[in-house]
Amino acid sequence: MNPRLTRSGYWLGNRRISLDSCGSTNDEAARLARAGAAHGTVVIAATQTGGRGREGRPWASPEGGLYLSAVLRPPLPLADVPPMTLAIGIATCDAVRTCGAPAVLKWPNDVLVNGRKLAGILVEAHSQGGRLEAVVVGIGINLHRTPDAVATTAIALAEAGGTVVDRDAFVTDLLAHVERWIDRYVAGGLPAIVPAWQERMAPGLAARATVDGIQLTGAVCGLAEDGALMLRDDTGRMHRIRSGDVDAFRPESAAL
Ligand code: BTN
Repeated sequence: MNPRLTRSGYWLGNRRISLDSCGSTNDEAARLARAGAAHGTVVIAATQTGGRGREGRPWASPEGGLYLSAVLRPPLPLADVPPMTLAIGIATCDAVRTCGAPAVLKWPNDVLVNGRKLAGILVEAHSQGGRLEAVVVGIGINLHRTPDAVATTAIALAEAGGTVVDRDAFVTDLLAHVERWIDRYVAGGLPAIVPAWQERMAPGLAARATVDGIQLTGAVCGLAEDGALMLRDDTGRMHRIRSGDVDAFRPESAAL
């Protein structure tokens, strides 16, 4: 579907740290960032004992998954960090597609196959006095098996029609995709990534969200120019969802 990117060695993952286990690779990367780690430093763990997702949810991290975090030092204001999640979603989606999995994106940070979660992204900004010091980008992918704890809602690449023969080659390819989409976002902002995100968006999703204290359900229509999710309610009115949780589902079938 997408060409495998040949790596010509730019800035992401030239320094890679591999751990058998850690609490969370995002915490390890944050620790390295505080100690002065260079832009592009990558930490990978075979398992995590305290893997984290958005909203403080646990991220099941047994052996067989990929748990990777990168230290970035982009020349961006703090406010421009959250939409990086969209760029990394595109990159992760493309990397798993090259392995044969028909992956799509669910706002803001999920990579799905057959309505099940294959990968998630956790972007955390670290600042001092309002100035961005570092961004830690965490990517979790269920590569070889679906964790038991999320067996009904998640899927592994191996079950999603994908094959990863060589884990290191997959990581190298993933990093090349991530580097490419971060560079595009940093150079061109949201206009440089929103069309690509929409092309990969899961089709036919509805979502429940709370806007100004009011609960609404609507059809997912795509992204606004500022990266917000656009929902069309039953009366045809459009709503922008900027943050918080969105419970997306397929109206004609079971909830995701
Ligand atoms: C989500 O879907 O809510 C985001 C999940 C992000 C999980 C990855 S695994 C590598 C990195 N370390 C963590 O503790 N979290 C991220």
